[in-house]
Amino acid sequence: MKKVRVTTLRKKKSAGEKIAMVTAHDALTASVAQAAGLEVILVGDSLGMTALGFSTTLTVTLDMMVHHCAAVARGASTPLLVGDMPFMSYKISPEQAMANAARLIQDGGMEAVKLEGGAEIAPTIKRLVQAGIPVMAHIGLLPQSFHAQGGFRIQGREKGDADRLLADARALDEAGAFSLVLELIPPPIAAEISKAVSAPTIGIGSGAQCDGQVLVQADILGMTDRKPFKFVRRYADLYATSVKAMEAFAAEVRDGKFPGPENVPGA
Ligand code: KIV
Repeated sequence: MKKVRVTTLRKKKSAGEKIAMVTAHDALTASVAQAAGLEVILVGDSLGMTALGFSTTLTVTLDMMVHHCAAVARGASTPLLVGDMPFMSYKISPEQAMANAARLIQDGGMEAVKLEGGAEIAPTIKRLVQAGIPVMAHIGLLPQSFHAQGGFRIQGREKGDADRLLADARALDEAGAFSLVLELIPPPIAAEISKAVSAPTIGIGSGAQCDGQVLVQADILGMTDRKPFKFVRRYADLYATSVKAMEAFAAEVRDGKFPGPENVPGA
C-alpha cells in the first residue's frame, strides 16, 4: 500500500471510498494494523482503558502518549499516524496546544494530532493548522469530558443538540481540521454532518453514513473479557484463544513436555 497522507483521506471522500481507522498502542498492534492495510492508525488515549487498565482516559498523561506514540511509529509507517492529545494538554491556551502537539510529532513520531471538542476549540485548531500540524477533530461523546457529559452516553438526543453538533462540525471544518471523528452521535445527525462538511468524517457508534469508521483494536480482536459496547463488532476472540494457549503452555511445562527436542538450541 502507498503511504497514506491527510490529502489521501480527502481524495477518498471525494471518490466516495470509505476510510478504515483503528487504534494501536504499541509496535506490535501497529504492525498488525499496517499488515491489514488500514488507512489510519490512531494512538488513542483509549490507551488508558486498554493497555494501562484505568477506568477512564482522564489519567493518561502527555508523557504516556509520547511513549506509546513512539512505539507505534516504530511498528508502522504506511498508515497515516494520528496521536491523541490527552486530557487538559490543549485547552489551557493555543500556545500550550502548540507545544504539546509538537512533542507528539517530534518525540512521538506522529504525523497529525487529534483533539476533542466543539466550536470552542476551533481557534486552537486554526493555530495548529497554520503552524503546519494536521488536526483531526472529535465531537459527540467526548471521553475526556466523562464527568461533564454524565458518563459514556449517546449524544445528540436533547433539544437543540443536532443544531449544536452541526454548528460545531462546521466550525471545526472551517478551522481546517482534516477529518472529524463523530462518536456516539445518532446516525441521521452524523449523516447530515458528513454531507455538510468537506473533511471526511470517521464514525464510531454513529451509523454507516460516515465517510469512514474507527474501532479500538482491542475491541475488534476481542482482546478483553469485558462485554463490548453495542456499536462494536468483534472479528476475533483473542482473549479466549490466548487463555487457551497459555493454559496449554503451563500444562506442558508441568508435564515436562516443554521444551521438546526441537526447542533445544544447537541440538
Ligand atoms: O481514544 C480513542 O481510541 C479514540 C477513538 C475511539 C476515536 O478516541
